[in-house]
Amino acid sequence: MYNRTMNSKNIDWKNLGFDYMELPYRYRAYFREGSWQEQGLTEQSHLTLSEASTGLHYGQQGYEGLKAYRTKEGSIQLFRPEENAKRLQETCRRLAMPEVPTEMFVDAVKQVVLANEDFVPPYETGATLYLRPLIIGVGGMLGVQSAKEFLFTIFAMPVGVYFNKNKGNKKFVIAHEDDRVAPKGTGHIKAGGNYGGSIQTIEQAHEKGYDGVLYLDSKTHEYVEEAGSANVFGISKTGKLITPNSTSILPSITKYSLLQLARERFDLEVIEEPIPLDQLDSFEEMSACGTAAVVTSIGQVDDLKYGKSYHYKTEDTLSQKLKNELLGIQFGDIQAPERWIVKVK
Ligand code: PLP
Ligand code: COI
Repeated sequence: MYNRTMNSKNIDWKNLGFDYMELPYRYRAYFREGSWQEQGLTEQSHLTLSEASTGLHYGQQGYEGLKAYRTKEGSIQLFRPEENAKRLQETCRRLAMPEVPTEMFVDAVKQVVLANEDFVPPYETGATLYLRPLIIGVGGMLGVQSAKEFLFTIFAMPVGVYFNKNKGNKKFVIAHEDDRVAPKGTGHIKAGGNYGGSIQTIEQAHEKGYDGVLYLDSKTHEYVEEAGSANVFGISKTGKLITPNSTSILPSITKYSLLQLARERFDLEVIEEPIPLDQLDSFEEMSACGTAAVVTSIGQVDDLKYGKSYHYKTEDTLSQKLKNELLGIQFGDIQAPERWIVKVK
């Protein structure tokens, strides 16, 4: 049985960052000979893989990120998990991996949440249980080809804020030197390969005191695309919500939820369009959004190549109102649009 020293009673829920924590249970399934074979929950946190796994050599892998929320009444719920299942299916298609059916995905997420229930943070802390589904080609292959076997696993850990919460005014820098993805590559799916090349970039940005990186389109370097781990949107000086559209950014479930709320509940005009760099000047607010990032106001964007700094409002903002609506829905305090909330318990 589980006997590691880490215990949910020792967790400082209010001061959690975004770090790995080894919880008691995770879910496993293997795709072999044409079908998924579910193994269910296990306490084994380490994997044993063929050294020739395609996931290790050729990046044949993809992942997801979603959260479980504790409500005021103590129940537990998920936010739009079917959307994560669908996005993982898109990732699987693009990388020639077998799709994980939606029902299997959502059911597995629920199993992991319930098994680790003690680690779903209390409502009043604002923390959540983050779930990380991962699919990886594991059969031994030497040529560049699809694996014959795949592992699908989901593990979980309690998390707090993603971007440094000890720093009020978040500063981002425009990545002129590095691209995240190619125009017709894999930017629209959640493939680990999209992130490998961003690690050096974000580390260098951190060294210079930045909290995040804003990538440009890799074809012309003239348009804003997204942050390395979140989408972005701006609120124009005329009160419109404007966000980049591009086939090489990840379709953020958080962002599309915010866009819907902006239209339906705040009567905002929402525009998805290519955003040239100089349009950054027309924004009054700018935010990063995603499951991990939630909605994080960006106070400053520096363009070191052209020697420009853009400054944005971070207090008493429309973005904050949208964030509160979203969080209210996710934690069960505000009525959700139909089918957004899936109860676990
Ligand atoms: N963009 C990137 C590159 C991401 O890694 C993420 C995180 O999942 C997002 C955007 C936000 O997507 P979502 O809101 O579905 O979490
Ligand atoms: C998420 O928001 O779920 C993500 O996957 C972002 C990740 C790169 C930390």
